[in-house]
Amino acid sequence: MEKQGNKKRIAIFASGNGTNAENIIRYFNDNERSCGGEVALIVCNRPDAMVLQRADRFGVPSAVMTKTELNDPDTILPLLDRHAIDMIVLAGFLLMMPVFIIERYQEKIINIHPSLLPKYGGKGMYGHHVHAAVVAAGETETGITVHFVSERCDEGNIIFQTNVPVAATDTPEDVERKVHSLEREHFPRIIDEILSNITTP
Ligand code: GAR
Repeated sequence: MEKQGNKKRIAIFASGNGTNAENIIRYFNDNERSCGGEVALIVCNRPDAMVLQRADRFGVPSAVMTKTELNDPDTILPLLDRHAIDMIVLAGFLLMMPVFIIERYQEKIINIHPSLLPKYGGKGMYGHHVHAAVVAAGETETGITVHFVSERCDEGNIIFQTNVPVAATDTPEDVERKVHSLEREHFPRIIDEILSNITTP
């Protein structure tokens, strides 16, 4: 695919609802705010995921990939090349990134995690499970972490963290709402900053 102008192109990988994906699409559609990127592709591993409908609504191309296809260099890399992808953003993506993608996109793949890593990270810690664990542990604060993706789950270098208080009366749903609000406020801006430092071939 030919690049249009000099906008850098983002692929968002997501598995579920896609509220972050939609928020990022909206941010980069607003040229006044962004430094010159666009969401060029949504990759999803579940054909029934809401994020695919959100992509359609905004006219963003999407691809459904099984775990096997994701782990096949001859399938996923040509897809990313066809869409001339410069950076990959994981926003609620529940599969591990294969090493060959991490090597190809060194320091160009970031993930958002809904806690203050290293707390409440690792296998099985996603979405609601994280907030339930935070409440069960009686934490007085939680937050979000944006980090580079490495071969180890939730362990890449941290780029950004911010926190929010957890009240003794908060339910996991309350915590989830607070965390989503932080994600909405900060994630697109962090992506934009990283994108502006990426050099394209
Ligand atoms: C987000 O809160 C994101 O931080 C979390 O999943 C949610 C996806 O929501 N990611 C993880 O838990 C990764 N371990 P969304 O589909 O509405 O954007």
